[in-house]
Amino acid sequence: MAENLIIAEGGKNEKYELLYKQVAALIKGECDPIANMANIAAMIHTTFGFWWTGFYRVAGDELVLGPFQGPLACSRIKYGRGVCGTAWKEQHTQVVPDVELFPGHIACSSLSRSEIVVPVWHGNEIVAVLDIDSKELATFDETDKVWLEKITDLLYK
Ligand code: SME
Repeated sequence: MAENLIIAEGGKNEKYELLYKQVAALIKGECDPIANMANIAAMIHTTFGFWWTGFYRVAGDELVLGPFQGPLACSRIKYGRGVCGTAWKEQHTQVVPDVELFPGHIACSSLSRSEIVVPVWHGNEIVAVLDIDSKELATFDETDKVWLEKITDLLYK
């Protein structure tokens, strides 16, 4: 894919639409999932200017930190713990408008106010989660959920 990320003018939907096309092009040319996670994290992070964007990968009964953009983060999260471990356990996307109201939220950064965590599927199995944090409340909605699920679905197609 082109080395340069293009960020669409307009709203969230337009930005995701172009981002999705660029991720699809990226994945067409590279089969290594870690390399792709690294570039996907960078592409999402740069497009929207989120606080933290990255992947945690399933390793046994834990999630282990994978490629990310943003400040230092916790390395390991247990199954069912925090927003990430909950998305893994419940097997669906978690949209958290206010992290302080999410029981068991793991505060890697005290500046994080809202969060979305999307499971990454490889066939019938969750192999990772995509975690995005925002410094503002209620950043993520159904539009983010739909597009981020579409983007993560490209990883192991
Ligand atoms: N807040 C997450 C932990 C990961 S950091 O946000 C990068 C959670 O509760 O699972």
